[in-house]
Amino acid sequence: MTHMHIAGSIHADAAQGGPTWLRVPDDLNELDLKLWPRGTHRDESGRIVVAGVALTDVAEQHGTPTYVIDEDDFRSRARDFKEGFPGWEIYYAGKALLTRTVARWAAEEGLNLDVTTMGEMRIALAGGMPAARLGFHGNNKSDEEIAFALEQGVGRIIVDSFDEIQRLERACSEGGHRANVLVRVTTGVEAHTHEYIATAHEDQKFGLSIMGGQALTALVRCYSSPYLDLRGIHSHIGSQIFETLGFEVAIRRTMKLASQFRTATGVELPELDLGGGFGIAYTAADTPRATTELAAAFEEMVDHECRALGLNRPELSIEPGRAICGPSGVAVYRVGTVKTVELEGGRSRVYVSVDGGMSDNIRPALYAAEYSAAVANRTSTAEAVLSRVVGKHCEGGDILIRDVFLPSDVAIGDLIAVPGSGAYARSMASNYNQIPKPPVVSAKDGDTSVMLRRETLEDLMRLDVGQ
Ligand SMILES: Cc1ncc(COP(=O)(O)O)c(C=O)c1O
Repeated sequence: MTHMHIAGSIHADAAQGGPTWLRVPDDLNELDLKLWPRGTHRDESGRIVVAGVALTDVAEQHGTPTYVIDEDDFRSRARDFKEGFPGWEIYYAGKALLTRTVARWAAEEGLNLDVTTMGEMRIALAGGMPAARLGFHGNNKSDEEIAFALEQGVGRIIVDSFDEIQRLERACSEGGHRANVLVRVTTGVEAHTHEYIATAHEDQKFGLSIMGGQALTALVRCYSSPYLDLRGIHSHIGSQIFETLGFEVAIRRTMKLASQFRTATGVELPELDLGGGFGIAYTAADTPRATTELAAAFEEMVDHECRALGLNRPELSIEPGRAICGPSGVAVYRVGTVKTVELEGGRSRVYVSVDGGMSDNIRPALYAAEYSAAVANRTSTAEAVLSRVVGKHCEGGDILIRDVFLPSDVAIGDLIAVPGSGAYARSMASNYNQIPKPPVVSAKDGDTSVMLRRETLEDLMRLDVGQ
């Protein structure tokens, strides 16, 4: 056998029987409830039921792949943050999943909303989220986006560079506006998460460095601007974080910065935003913290720093995205091919190909994200075999779930449900290989309703206007 390249970790894991945390389940039919929307269960015929809707019915009515979002689950997690963090402002991070319906749910639950682009602003407003409750992020906001945000009266703009501050002032001056701003800072925290979703270390595109002194300069610059109302400091250390230690360091450093700002200006900053990034359970190995536990830890840290620095307690806000919509969503795929691949050493691996893949969930390919899966249309008493769920794209890395135990009788036509698919799946979807994006349907009390329809081949054809 000729190796064209040295086998990477994907191959190495096969010899070990999957990652170390992965256990052969005692009962393949049992659902690990921490992964699924609350109330998910199997009915008497063994079908997985989300929000009172059997996933087989979802597949029948909406086709596959389809993302199902349990409305009550979304709302209950939004409420967990509202109630778990009393007195804090909660900004739902729309980048995780945003449709008009989702914006309405967030607004009705008393959340504010984080947006990053013109598209997100437009959807949020169309969903009924008041402009005053929007926070506008981004490291490269266009003049058009800035002007639109000002005209709409967006509640706060989180500035990310000196260049942006200048352009924002110009837009204010031209349009006769004022803007509430927070300065996004990098705290130097190395969050324990994938490099691409750790955003507070120094060598990356977001924010202004505290250590390098730019953050303080930017704060003073905004404070002295005739067009800007400086509200405070913004820090987001990364995503899918379970430990509070990173936040603790971020709080210490941002509060110290607030104290330096007071020394420089004689004024205290009224607000501190600690960003999002609260981890959810994608696999049995993940152990998310309750919002009350997070809140207690954050409160204690902020109080401690306020006392130590002699600062008043600022108004506090956070920006959870994934932790609200991630566990509410399940992706439903249909199996199209099952193939057993013989490996060296007499081992084999079962490749289960589904009718979606990296175009509807890029996270595994982008940052080796792990997921779990279950057969959704039936139970099985077949033995558990280590399987790999792959998509239908022309790419070897088109892997949805690298290692998962599935029943050995998984067959063409079975439905595979992937929990944790509410966040950063549809919102990061592409049309790779000219595949129309799947729909997003909400489920509640036994009914479904389409929030975002499936793209069609006609949609794709219409975009192609060349001769
Ligand atoms: C500034 C900011 N806030 C909040 C979030 C939401 O993070 P998560 O969905 O992990 O909570 C992100 C994610 O990238 C972000 O960049």
